[in-house]
Amino acid sequence: MTDLPILPSGFRFGASTASYQIEGAVDEDGRGPTIWDTFTHEPGRIRGGDTGDVAIDHYHRWEGDLDLLAELGIHDYRFSIAWSRILPQGTGAVEPRGLAFYDRLVDGLLARGIRPVPTLYHWDLPQALEDRGGWLSRDTAEALGDYVGVVVDRLGDRVRDWITLNEMSVQTLYGYALTDHAPGRGLGFGALPVAHHQLLAHGHAVARLRAAGAERVGVAQQHFPVVPASGAMEDLVAAGTFAAITNWLFADPLLAGRYPEELRPLIPVDDAQLAEDLALISAPLDFYGVNYYEPMLVEAPREGADYAGAAEVDLPEGLPFALLPYPSEERTDFGWAIAPDQLTAILRELRERYPNLPPVVITEGGASFHDGPGADGAVHDARRIAYLDAHLRAVADAVAAGVDVRGYYTWSAFDNFEWAAGNDERFGLVYVDYATQERIRKDSFAWYRDVIAAQP
Ligand code: FCB
Repeated sequence: MTDLPILPSGFRFGASTASYQIEGAVDEDGRGPTIWDTFTHEPGRIRGGDTGDVAIDHYHRWEGDLDLLAELGIHDYRFSIAWSRILPQGTGAVEPRGLAFYDRLVDGLLARGIRPVPTLYHWDLPQALEDRGGWLSRDTAEALGDYVGVVVDRLGDRVRDWITLNEMSVQTLYGYALTDHAPGRGLGFGALPVAHHQLLAHGHAVARLRAAGAERVGVAQQHFPVVPASGAMEDLVAAGTFAAITNWLFADPLLAGRYPEELRPLIPVDDAQLAEDLALISAPLDFYGVNYYEPMLVEAPREGADYAGAAEVDLPEGLPFALLPYPSEERTDFGWAIAPDQLTAILRELRERYPNLPPVVITEGGASFHDGPGADGAVHDARRIAYLDAHLRAVADAVAAGVDVRGYYTWSAFDNFEWAAGNDERFGLVYVDYATQERIRKDSFAWYRDVIAAQP
């Protein structure tokens, strides 16, 4: 194929993973348990009863995995550091074997000419901290700062790019407001302090990274473009409320130093403290990471309507908004709507909403298709190629419309443990056979490699 998507020169292509989703080795080298270890071992939480105990065994197979990344030709590799490998109890004693693992990983990437872009926190909170209140406790934000200090002391001489937290919105909403993700608290609006404490943790992390001379600091945020189901006032209001909770509750403090007005009463601090906190939270960033998967269609709940199963998350009753399936012609095998134009739309919306928006990196984008090896032993995932092609072109459209987008990291380099959905959902460019841990390059692997090689 010659007609490959072309991005501006200097654009960075990458791939992303996260510790709990790939590493396995949960009891090795002093690693402490996390909320995901606890959650996955509770009956009924994860589809098929899968856990991340072994995952794709990356902890032992990392060298071969890095060789695959080198062959892929990516510029940047986004992985996450497991807090409980470094500080098994979340605070206190440092585990040198945990630090040594990431030390080897960073050296292995640099030796292969790949830039390491670690995420410091991708949802795997040490269980010891959850036992003391988890993200409902303000102390957790400070604890994250201290942990980041330990990591940057060790890796900061070689790592130039850092991502603080991954998708605070998803952990707050799915993990604390609802029960779909760890720790599965189901607190409804009582989860709002979690948002504030994660934002504060981000602020502490940025301060620590800056103090250590980090070159580029960013965050990775999920952005669901929110589309009202109709032009009726009640649907516009419902969509606005939903967008405030999923998008602006997090992005406004980070990028504009304020909370959406309607949510301010739920933030558990007085005005003086809030001003101090927001100053820390809104410290300038070098890049803003956007994770994009799909848009949400929202309406004002209709009397007597049954929304159960309509969208992929079931919301409790009594909320001022309801989720509907987004009307896209195609869906991934996970059931997610395929809507590349909405990626362009959310990038433009961010650009318009935030005059100080830093350069954007798409820190995650990809699709689960279940294709496995056929009779010829190869994985022909043409739908993933079409998906990535369309989304890279959507990024190019956003760039043409004036949004400063500097990179695209696909989720994911390898098939991996997909949280509540377990091992069935496959997002990788590399297929993993969970029984043998064999890795098989999918067709999309060769395609992505060719795209990278074709850039100016
Ligand atoms: C995102 C997560 C990532 C992965 C993708 C599919 O919300 O950040 O870990 O599971 O979804």
